[in-house]
Amino acid sequence: MSSVTVSGPGLIQGTFIPPGDKSISHRAVMFGALSDGESSYTHFLEAEDCLSTLEAFRAMGVSIDHKKGSGKITIHGVGLRGLKAPEREIYLGNSGTSMRVLMGILAGQKFEVTLTGDPSLTSRPMRRVTDPLKKMGAQIKGKDNGNFAPITIRGGKLKGIDFDNHLASAQVKSALLFAGLYAEGQTKIRETISSRDHTERFLQSAGASFKRAGQWLVVEKTEHLKPFHAEIPGDISAAAFFITAAAMTRGSSLTVEKVCLNPTRTGLIRVLERMGASIQTTVTQTDPEPLGIIQVQGRKLKGTRISKDEIPSLIDELPILMTAMAVAEGESLISGAEELRVKETDRIHSMAVNLNRLGAQLEELPDGCIIRGGAKLYGGKVTSFGDHRTAMSMAIAALTLEAGEVVIEDTDCVATSFPSFFDELNRLRK
Ligand code: S3P
Repeated sequence: MSSVTVSGPGLIQGTFIPPGDKSISHRAVMFGALSDGESSYTHFLEAEDCLSTLEAFRAMGVSIDHKKGSGKITIHGVGLRGLKAPEREIYLGNSGTSMRVLMGILAGQKFEVTLTGDPSLTSRPMRRVTDPLKKMGAQIKGKDNGNFAPITIRGGKLKGIDFDNHLASAQVKSALLFAGLYAEGQTKIRETISSRDHTERFLQSAGASFKRAGQWLVVEKTEHLKPFHAEIPGDISAAAFFITAAAMTRGSSLTVEKVCLNPTRTGLIRVLERMGASIQTTVTQTDPEPLGIIQVQGRKLKGTRISKDEIPSLIDELPILMTAMAVAEGESLISGAEELRVKETDRIHSMAVNLNRLGAQLEELPDGCIIRGGAKLYGGKVTSFGDHRTAMSMAIAALTLEAGEVVIEDTDCVATSFPSFFDELNRLRK
């Protein structure tokens, strides 16, 4: 198990192009595999999670060309009904998106597959996906009535359902949208709070039988998907660590280029602005995904409140926002974020334990936390709890130290989403 030491304090200065977006990279492989003909992408995220998705499709007979380090992939799509039964169970490592969204695709296949993963993934709740897929007609078995992997799924003759996505989960929504491509009748999904809409954008570009109608997403059985040729936008959830680092340290100046600016993903920017950050955003492309430049100048921030409606647009950015809130002036409150407790680790707990160890005042609530800001942080030893975003947030916390260094234990997990994170931190920190 490796550990990394980051000394403080520090500033962020320079220009940064984030790695390919994780959510879009997963979907790029899925849509490429299920479309007719060849799809090609550049700036694909070569992190463990997305490679798990890629290997899963290879195991189901899809030929994918990928030269490691190039960011380029070419997928020889087999069409919606061309996947083959894998020879053995499919291992998805730490990747919740791979497992949950794949289940929707597998619900439409005429063969049986078992999906499994690492100890974190096999203890994350899956019934949110398996229950509605069973209602659609899939046969699914797993521990605790289909709640935990290993999960065995045999696709059935599916029928459309009406589903209320009350968790505002893009993973659940995406699984059902994929299953809907194979189902008789309409599959209708209602979202009162929008979650990330990358799957919908892919469905539209692929020519699927899909429409948005107010709060409802409606998908119908589809015979063919068109292939894709695209550059994957930079991941704002990876950029978030450096954006926040720059925003909260006086003297920092950062330009982030080619970053995805999809409004369902940019809650971080809105919250940092509310905290008083100096951020300028320029949109350079709108279709199929908004893309652009973010410029940040560092200054002292003040506390704010984040509540339920905003959570899906910044769910993965809450650990780094907690770090900013710990040192900002005044009190902050995060509520309606109980989903954080079932991420790769319980991120409310991991961040509370770690930040408090450095001198922060963060009090856990069942669905969030209260943070008494203005803390002076000093060096100490923390752990990732096996969670990539906790590890990266604690590395950034080091930049705000009064003195000392942060020793972060168990940092291998960073490779699940951002393998070059520590190299980039070394390059950008001053
Ligand atoms: C993701 C959706 C989010 C997010 C995850 C990626 C996706 O999860 O936390 O990192 O790609 O659909 P939920 O849908 O469970 O909120």
